Amino acid sequence: MSKVIVIVGAQWGDEGKGKIVDLLAERFEIVARYQGGHNAGHSVQVGDRSFVLHLLPSGIIHEGKSCVLGNGMVIDPKAFFEEADRLAEQGIHVTPERVKVSSRAHLILPYHRALDHTSEERLGNERVGTTLRGIGPAYEDKAGRRGIRVADALDSEVLRSRIEWNLADANRVIEAYGGQALDAAQVFDEIAPLTERLAPFIADTSHFLNRAARDNRSILIEGAQAALLDVDHGTYPFVTSSSTTAGGASAGTGLAPQRITGVLGIVRTYTTRVGEGPFPTEMLGGEAELGQLIRERGREYGASTGRPRRCGWFDAFATRYAAEINGFSSVALTKLDVLDALDEIKVCTGYRLDGKVIETFPAVSAELRRIEPLYETLPGWKTSTVGTTNMSDLPANARSYVEFLSQVVGVEIGLVSTGPERDQTLICRDSALGGWLAD
Ligand code: GDP
Ligand code: IMO
Ligand code: MG
Repeated sequence: MSKVIVIVGAQWGDEGKGKIVDLLAERFEIVARYQGGHNAGHSVQVGDRSFVLHLLPSGIIHEGKSCVLGNGMVIDPKAFFEEADRLAEQGIHVTPERVKVSSRAHLILPYHRALDHTSEERLGNERVGTTLRGIGPAYEDKAGRRGIRVADALDSEVLRSRIEWNLADANRVIEAYGGQALDAAQVFDEIAPLTERLAPFIADTSHFLNRAARDNRSILIEGAQAALLDVDHGTYPFVTSSSTTAGGASAGTGLAPQRITGVLGIVRTYTTRVGEGPFPTEMLGGEAELGQLIRERGREYGASTGRPRRCGWFDAFATRYAAEINGFSSVALTKLDVLDALDEIKVCTGYRLDGKVIETFPAVSAELRRIEPLYETLPGWKTSTVGTTNMSDLPANARSYVEFLSQVVGVEIGLVSTGPERDQTLICRDSALGGWLAD
């Protein structure tokens, strides 16, 4: 059976998915994205070269790999070509031979960005803290059956009339909240040349991927955002608008579910969140300084928006929930080295709500805000682990920390990342996903 592995963030994003996808991409023939858009920021460090991928799969860094932007994505054509042009300056060529964009993916148009701003302003203190890239409004149009798909845009008359139709409604909302109405002709003139440029990239990617799987070609499916930002399973309404969890990989690529042979969860040794929303283990008050230390050591600033990420302790209760809904076959644990400076490390192993220990992850955000995390404290190791590649070379306390996390999350840890570079990685086990690391 062909190897089809889904990579999913287990927390609120930025776990280091880009690094792990880049690391594993050389063992796969195709790398595909299945949801989200340029709200993602996946950083890849290769020697002294850094790349940040927003729309394109991180596999693009490896010459000769095919990349797919699946039907579950929302694609801003302007952002696509800006990214392609930026990569070209770095010697990576985004060509139709290598990159296929699903004809069924939806377009993000300028009015989606305007609506994203309007919606956040309307919410005021209750805002989501979105990336303002138009992601939510584009998915709203998709679910509302008025979205414009990549293939629709190939017919310029269809594109023009859909823009006119949708903009009439969008402008009513934008203007009602004091925004500037957009002009349909201007939107068309901006978008039409871009969709024309996109034409050679457009393909039936579901067919391409299923045929590839049938022909025994290996596929790595790269998740963006993360489980706790999933529109169904995340901390709703403080979520993104797509199905980020492994289940979304089938819907968002058209690959039949039984083709998927494993799910790798990307778990960071601590937690961050960018944007608003409940965050039970956030380092606040007396721990704010510690949060700042982690932010600096881990360079925790948004790769898309530059916003400082909120930092907190490892939340094993939330990660166990993520492991359950995604069915992680194995976990890649990232950023162990960031904790090198700490005397003690806390891990949240349970939640107490209104005085009672609870068993399941709360569905209501107001409840998540009232959670009292139950912590266990482990000793730090106060030794550099940067670049360690062998488990036996880790300080004993670092090894115990890794083993403890595996035990409390209930999933084996397949690899540990000890720095942003490809070779700063420690492979622990290679059993759960059928030996995929060894291939
Ligand atoms: P993603 O959105 O999940 O791909 O994660 P981001 O790229 O937004 O953020 C992760 C950041 O941590 C990037 O700057 C990576 O280069 C960096 N990184 C990844 N793994 C490690 C690691 O093990 N140690 C350190 N120090 N940095 C890492
Ligand atoms: P990667 O793939 C972290 C967050 C936003 C906001 C919420 C909704 O790099 O891990 P949206 O613009 O999607 O409507 O915003 O989701 N968010 C992310 N947080 N990493 C990301 O991507 C994110 N993409 C969206 O901050 O809280
Ligand atoms: Mg990111």
